Amino acid sequence: MRKRHEESFLARWGTGNGTGPALICETVVWRGVTSCAPLFSIICRPAGGNGKLFYTMKKDFWQALPRPFFVLAPLANITDYSFRQFIARYKKPDVFWTEFVAADGLCHPKGREALIRDLKFDDNERPVVAQLFTGQPENMFEGARLVKELGFDGLDINMGCPDKNVMKQGAGAACMKDPVLAQAIIRAAMDGVRADGKDPIPVSIKTRLGFNRDDLEEWLPKVLETGPAAVTLHLRTKKEMSLVPAHWDRMNRAVEIRNEYNPKTLIIGNGDVQTLDEGRRKCVETGCDGVMIGRGVFGNPWIFDEAKTKVSVRERLEAMLVLTELFVDVWEGAKSFELLKKHFQAYIAGFPGARELRAELMLVYDGQAVKDRVRSFLSAHAALAEQEILLK
Ligand SMILES: Cc1cc2nc3c(=O)[nH]c(=O)nc-3n(C[C@H](O)[C@H](O)[C@H](O)COP(=O)(O)O)c2cc1C
Repeated sequence: MRKRHEESFLARWGTGNGTGPALICETVVWRGVTSCAPLFSIICRPAGGNGKLFYTMKKDFWQALPRPFFVLAPLANITDYSFRQFIARYKKPDVFWTEFVAADGLCHPKGREALIRDLKFDDNERPVVAQLFTGQPENMFEGARLVKELGFDGLDINMGCPDKNVMKQGAGAACMKDPVLAQAIIRAAMDGVRADGKDPIPVSIKTRLGFNRDDLEEWLPKVLETGPAAVTLHLRTKKEMSLVPAHWDRMNRAVEIRNEYNPKTLIIGNGDVQTLDEGRRKCVETGCDGVMIGRGVFGNPWIFDEAKTKVSVRERLEAMLVLTELFVDVWEGAKSFELLKKHFQAYIAGFPGARELRAELMLVYDGQAVKDRVRSFLSAHAALAEQEILLK
């Protein structure tokens, strides 16, 4: 019944809690011509339920993104569900990523129970991609099936993480040392997302320039041969960790290799980008399709809002309180409050009294106490609270 085409995508609009009927509207984009055919259906999967308008995209959402596009990097212990909800309140990126999740753990009943919380998302995050890692193709296959079943828009495979525990499983950056296994893992993911016989979700890869040295010429073609929807290139080697500036000068060559081996695969550049403006310039200079921003989001939930160039001290501290409230609402009893404190350093900086306030908050262990302390600081420093901080 539904017309299938590479350049078509399915968009769903609704206002319900995900259990009632919602208007489904199939939009077919074909050589610039757009047609809309509304029909009614039931959305069976719980879907946010915040009463707000939401939409979901199926098929290859990557092709429907603007150019250039800007995505939020996966950041373990940071870009979890509550953090993504936080960012969505300010300005969403074009794509959200989950933190990385061990596919091996997902393949065991106990592990799955513990890890499934890391795959929690709401429809307002769409398009949202789940990132998995493993050194075992059969576990990637199972993980991919689960990611599809959970309703993610895409699956991303981590082939760049330098963490020793990850690498000793043959996963993350270790994949770069064994391209044959890496290809088997990617292909297993591609099989996993089509195992239910329905439209597969796109599979993408996040990797680096190489392991101990820049291996772009050998490594990138191996990844591209498998036909992923997108490749994110963190422009450093595993050996370099994040200790040297990202080698954006290598991006032109990466784009050439992409054009040669698989012109359909999108190339996303990653490393050290702090503003959309900077990212846009890099896309123009290098020809990459989009930019991934990681640490630039610390203390700056407005990063994807180009119009927002400055905030007051009050606004920034209030944003930190929103982050705190969401964290506590979602994770109280499940995650350590210490995880939240990592953010405080980024929000409480660059104004007189910041060091003292930060030190006080390091001793606090509940959301209400953080709120009380920050609010009393703001009332005691009325003029300072209105002082502006440049974001860009
Ligand atoms: C705290 C932290 C956690 C990270 N977790 C992940 C992860 O789960 N998956 C991943 O692919 N990369 C992870 N990365 C790497 C980032 O996604 C990104 O590639 C890196 O920070 C470079 O981008 P940036 O300079 O914009 O921060 C992490 C980086 C940091 C700093």
